[in-house]
Amino acid sequence: MRKKIVAGNWKMNKNLHECILLADDIRAGLEPLPKNQLPTVILAPAFPFLYAVSQTLGVNQSITTSAQNCSSEKSGAYTGEVSVDMIRSTGAKYVIIGHSERRSLFLETEDSIRKKLMVCLEAELAPILCIGEKSEERKEARHFEVVKKQIDSATGNLSPEILSKLVIAYEPVWAIGTGVHASPAQAQEMQAFIRQSFAQSKGMEFSQTLPILYGGSCNPGNAKELFSCKDVDGGLIGGASLNASDFLSIIKAAMDL
Ligand code: 13P
Repeated sequence: MRKKIVAGNWKMNKNLHECILLADDIRAGLEPLPKNQLPTVILAPAFPFLYAVSQTLGVNQSITTSAQNCSSEKSGAYTGEVSVDMIRSTGAKYVIIGHSERRSLFLETEDSIRKKLMVCLEAELAPILCIGEKSEERKEARHFEVVKKQIDSATGNLSPEILSKLVIAYEPVWAIGTGVHASPAQAQEMQAFIRQSFAQSKGMEFSQTLPILYGGSCNPGNAKELFSCKDVDGGLIGGASLNASDFLSIIKAAMDL
């Protein structure tokens, strides 16, 4: 059985002090819960706070940190960029790649997303690759085609062995920050399609162990229903991860299953 993952993408929110408080509240909230039932919990603060949040969590099997982005270059004269080696040196284990905000607001291309995925994997960081269709693409019934293209351009030609740390986050763009989440049926339908696509390209074993998360207006009220779907292995949470009690409720929703 695949272990559930609940990841909080804090985006460009919270200062240093607030990040440490939030991380500590979440860490403390997990303590009384049965360890063997906990999902993998991941916190993704902004770059300047990754080290402090990692330190706050300490060495803990159940909770770890992720960057929200990385440079596609390994090192050198790239002012303002942050490399995977820098990220790894903070204690982070994951990197979110290809988030729709980066694709649309920072014009990230499929080519740069693929490069980022490669540098992450080479640095032994686990990429959380975000994919998902826009509202008009779903209306035009092109959502499967769009998602398939995102998968193929990022992971095509890469072997299952190289991709062994990959995590997928299906985040329909129309559900991000809108309060309108995908219905469990819509999430399940797409995530089964994603798993099926990987089964065809990378084999059954790879596809059966691949974690596929759902993201987009996931909250304590809908998490359990979404996480109960066969191909939904947890969530990538934005707004509701900024509040310890909401985020802990979502983590608990991943445990009751
Ligand atoms: P919301 O949960 O705020 O909709 O954001 C989802 C998201 O973008 C996580 O990466």
